[in-house]
Amino acid sequence: MADTSSKPDHFEVRVLRQDGPQASSYWERHRVRYEPDMNVISVLQRIASQSQTVDGKEVSPVAWECNCLEEVCGACTMVVNGRVRQACTALVDRLMAEQESDIELQPMSKFPVQRDLVVERRRMFRGLEKSKAWVTVDTYGPMGAGPRISQTEQENNYPLSQCMSCGCCLEACPQYTKVELVQGDSESDDAFAERQDSTFDGEFVGAHAISQVMLFNGHPIAKNDANERLDSLMAPGGIQVCGNAQNCVAVCPKEIPLTTSIARAGRATTVRAITKFFG
Ligand code: SF4
Ligand code: SF4
Ligand code: FES
Repeated sequence: MADTSSKPDHFEVRVLRQDGPQASSYWERHRVRYEPDMNVISVLQRIASQSQTVDGKEVSPVAWECNCLEEVCGACTMVVNGRVRQACTALVDRLMAEQESDIELQPMSKFPVQRDLVVERRRMFRGLEKSKAWVTVDTYGPMGAGPRISQTEQENNYPLSQCMSCGCCLEACPQYTKVELVQGDSESDDAFAERQDSTFDGEFVGAHAISQVMLFNGHPIAKNDANERLDSLMAPGGIQVCGNAQNCVAVCPKEIPLTTSIARAGRATTVRAITKFFG
């Protein structure tokens, strides 16, 4: 239980709101009564139940996403006091101790905003699709015991398997820049999705997809598609775009060794390029 003796009765929360994908953003201030052991999700729930700004103006509830509430799904990722992180594990007591100020919430800046703190992360999942980040099986019938995986392989792969596609590494990456397309009036949803995907395919795929390539290329069954994955990293928007700034590894909430994955992927794509050159 937190020590509440030095805590204020209320604190202020500034939220960067946006009413829709094409609308302009604006700041809104809310006053929330302090309670011990709050996280940013519970703060947003109080704001939704008040539906009133600090000036007493009636407003619609702030939109946000969450699922697991235990830093596993990544849905609640947003920028809290200038740092990209999960709202469910951003504890108010700790934020106050770190900064001694009020709380500021913004959506991630690298993805198009759908509404308030909810962003469209299609590009991130397209990156996984492009990199074939899965294990291909050719039957649903029983196949007996799977191949044995050595202790070393398990130790290498387990950290990479913890990725929850939250987007923190992409938000922090200077090479990953925002791509926002507008759906045409007469453009169907399917046609728009296809146009988005073909645009995303030429843009930087980012650290999380590179790391997933190394995870699946280290899997005894998924490694059958290893060359295809490496080819995807050698295509436009692939590993060559990485500037090695290492921001990604610093913000990953799962402490995934992203720069190690990037270095391994760099070596593997070099070997692949030489092999292809010599036929
Ligand atoms: S190391 Fe590469 S992927 Fe990571 S932040 Fe830097 S440029 Fe982005
Ligand atoms: S690598 Fe880390 S920061 Fe990037 S999406 Fe996965 S869990 Fe999030
Ligand atoms: S709600 Fe799943 S990570 Fe926060």
